[in-house]
Amino acid sequence: MNSLLVFYFSCILFPILISPSIANTTTATTSSLRQPKSLILPVTKVLHFPRNQYVTVIKQRTPLVPIKLAVDLGLENSWVLCDHSYVSSTYKPQHCGSPECSLASKYRTNEDCRDCFAGGTLNTPGCNNNTCIGDVENDVGNILGAGELFRDVASVESADGRVVYVPNLLFGCGDTMMMEGLASGVKGIAALGRTKLALPSQFAAAFGLEKKFTVCLSSSTTSNGVVLLGKNDGSKSLAYTPTIFEPSFGKRNGKYYVDLNSIKINDKVVPFPRKYLSFGYPLKYRGGTTLNTIYPYTAMFELIHSAFVNSFVEAMPKDVPRVADVSPFKACFNSTYIAKTPVGPAVPRVDFVMKNGVVWRMLGTNTMVEVDKDVMCLAFVDYGEYSEGSAIVIGGHQLEDNLVQFDIANNRVGFSNSLLSKQTSCSMFAAKYINA
Ligand SMILES: *[C@@H]1O[C@H](CO)[C@@H](O)[C@H](O)[C@H]1NC(C)=O
Ligand SMILES: *[C@@H]1O[C@H](CO)[C@@H](O)[C@H](O)[C@H]1NC(C)=O
Ligand SMILES: *[C@@H]1O[C@H](CO)[C@@H](O)[C@H](O)[C@H]1NC(C)=O
Repeated sequence: MNSLLVFYFSCILFPILISPSIANTTTATTSSLRQPKSLILPVTKVLHFPRNQYVTVIKQRTPLVPIKLAVDLGLENSWVLCDHSYVSSTYKPQHCGSPECSLASKYRTNEDCRDCFAGGTLNTPGCNNNTCIGDVENDVGNILGAGELFRDVASVESADGRVVYVPNLLFGCGDTMMMEGLASGVKGIAALGRTKLALPSQFAAAFGLEKKFTVCLSSSTTSNGVVLLGKNDGSKSLAYTPTIFEPSFGKRNGKYYVDLNSIKINDKVVPFPRKYLSFGYPLKYRGGTTLNTIYPYTAMFELIHSAFVNSFVEAMPKDVPRVADVSPFKACFNSTYIAKTPVGPAVPRVDFVMKNGVVWRMLGTNTMVEVDKDVMCLAFVDYGEYSEGSAIVIGGHQLEDNLVQFDIANNRVGFSNSLLSKQTSCSMFAAKYINA
């Protein structure tokens, strides 16, 4: 890897989202080079109380600085801390009147134009006049704010080992109050939602990538997982289910909702009313099933969670003693009585059955978490303490060592089920790209 082929796209500052001219510009300036088919974002699992995070690094600014960002699969706008530490000669506030401005908020339908919104020194990052203001959302710390939109240079690697640049990646500015709950060194959130301003669509527009990305999270904190933006040759054997739109925010909502029909444990349906899974239940703006890394463990609406825990405990072999709960978990067992297998502890199978009949099967490695030397707990939590609002959010622990593809163009999500049962893992998958 000593001969990195570095290419700079263009010194012309073009807006990324106005695609026909872009596709042309990029092709024209790189005509002698192959366009990348996919880009990589390395992902590290970071242990952090109370919520572990999956963290990526993007280089940004001039001169380039590596910025750590927590990965949020459902977020619409990426954002980063804009304070005195933001130093860049290519920072460009997004002025009012561009199409991006009206896309920058899920909650407003009109663009929001303001003068130096956040306070601070005029004409520094986060504080410029006549700029559009977008949503800045931190679902890890549960804070919703707003901030100046801006563009700046960013750089990532392509799957074939080149360094590539985007001259004008659009981000929002967060202030220090927005940092609540983020792990040490994390300076913002990388939005991988299904909307236009999120990274998959911005990178797809800039490089002409397929509008999809693949997530493979490593269960280890010492070996990376990866997000592969664009084409993924390893995705042929995935099972797909459609992604649907939540009615309140519709296409302004970045979350990937899947149509979950039922949950089975050892083939027995977990008994709870079907309406718990529908949109608008128990309140407007709530409900539905999504997938997201901002929850370290699958989070469930409390009534679904209690039914789920009861069914799981019932299905557990009777000779495995239950031990005291370890917060935030509700079903913990003495693991010396649980056999170990290559796909984790031998516990009841959990199947998420989608409306189109496709089944996401979760085995011990994804359903149980070791909390002590001889204690293991069911790794699903009651979302009571969080307010993201979906009925179920399939979280990080359940996504680990699964290849999950978010196919934005075709409104579907594909998943592999545990790679461990195929004698591979996400760190092995990621190593093909990251240490190439
Ligand atoms: C691409 O740009 C070149 C040079 O600006 C122009 O001549 C050509 O017509 C453009 N092609 C398309 C398909 O827009
Ligand atoms: C920026 O906006 C503030 C508040 O509206 C105003 O007082 C100031 O004169 C403006 N500065 C410039 C350079 O436009
Ligand atoms: C688990 O079982 C072993 C063997 O019976 C016992 O020594 C240990 O104390 C138990 N642990 C817990 C947390 O109950």
